[in-house]
Amino acid sequence: MTTVQTGGKLYIAGEYSVLTPGQTAIIKNIPIYMTATVTDAEQISIMSDMFDYQVNMSPDNNYALIQESVRTLETFHGQPLSSFSLVITGKLEKDSLKFGIGSSGSVTVLTIKALAQHFDIPLTVDELFKLSAYTLLKRGDNGSMGDIACIAYDDLVAYTSFNREKIADQISVKSLFELMAMDWGYTIERLTPRIHADFLVGWTRQPAISKDMINQVKSVITLDYLNQTQVAVLKTKEALQTGNHNLLKMSLQTVSDLLLSLSSAIYIDKLKALKESENGLDAITKSSGSGGGDCGIAYSFSKKDSELLIERWASVGIELLHQERNL
Ligand code: PMV
Ligand code: MG
Repeated sequence: MTTVQTGGKLYIAGEYSVLTPGQTAIIKNIPIYMTATVTDAEQISIMSDMFDYQVNMSPDNNYALIQESVRTLETFHGQPLSSFSLVITGKLEKDSLKFGIGSSGSVTVLTIKALAQHFDIPLTVDELFKLSAYTLLKRGDNGSMGDIACIAYDDLVAYTSFNREKIADQISVKSLFELMAMDWGYTIERLTPRIHADFLVGWTRQPAISKDMINQVKSVITLDYLNQTQVAVLKTKEALQTGNHNLLKMSLQTVSDLLLSLSSAIYIDKLKALKESENGLDAITKSSGSGGGDCGIAYSFSKKDSELLIERWASVGIELLHQERNL
């Protein structure tokens, strides 16, 4: 029996801009996990706690992404996998409301990682990222793949995106092996944060669907937005790596202002309230990811201000989902 976990992720900076190839986002791993258990079996069976039934490899809409992930690993392996039972648990939700720290892609990373480990198929983290991105592109995913980079590396990363359209076009003409050997043009850098701060995650309890948010917002992304966001994202990266509080506050404020001006769909009332809660505190807050709901984040530079922020959040119906103390 093999048990493997993958965590969640949250965007720190670079939302929407990272959809354009060559732009950078900073994305943080969140230690709230999904689990996959693989055992040898007489026949293939796949079960996720998202659904109340199990499947084999016959096409099933709900299980299509997991089935595609199995197929990707099988192709990479170059021979059929022996029969297995795969059970996936950990819905990253409460009261049937998703947290918004996972992604549809989490399950792809988890499935590929778990089966590779079970069948002793060597896989580097970069191969795990590429195989997962390949699977999602094949299914027409419209994201930047930043979520996958963070979840595959299970770390704080700076991800610079590749041209997904170009690679997706190659899928029908090149073999998986040729594709794996190609340079796709992305970079993923692990960051070692030196910042002394509390990292807080506030959950709005309002689920947002990134795919729909992207479709709604992408047409209003301007070159100005891209350029200004990129500068602020690189400053955020520097601030995290050098432990510069003021630079972190200033650069995240800029990223947040740019998101606010991009589309009114991003800062819904609860995210506005999450942001306003920082007033007068030594802390910086912002919406995280696509916005429209899900989570916001904060870096707070004193214990007292963290407590005040958490209290203010609670008073406007924002739940503290996760906290990392590093003061
Ligand atoms: O809401 P999330 O955490 O899935 O983040 C979406 C971030 C976007 O930049 C808006 C989309 C993407 O795939 O990069
Ligand atoms: Mg989201």
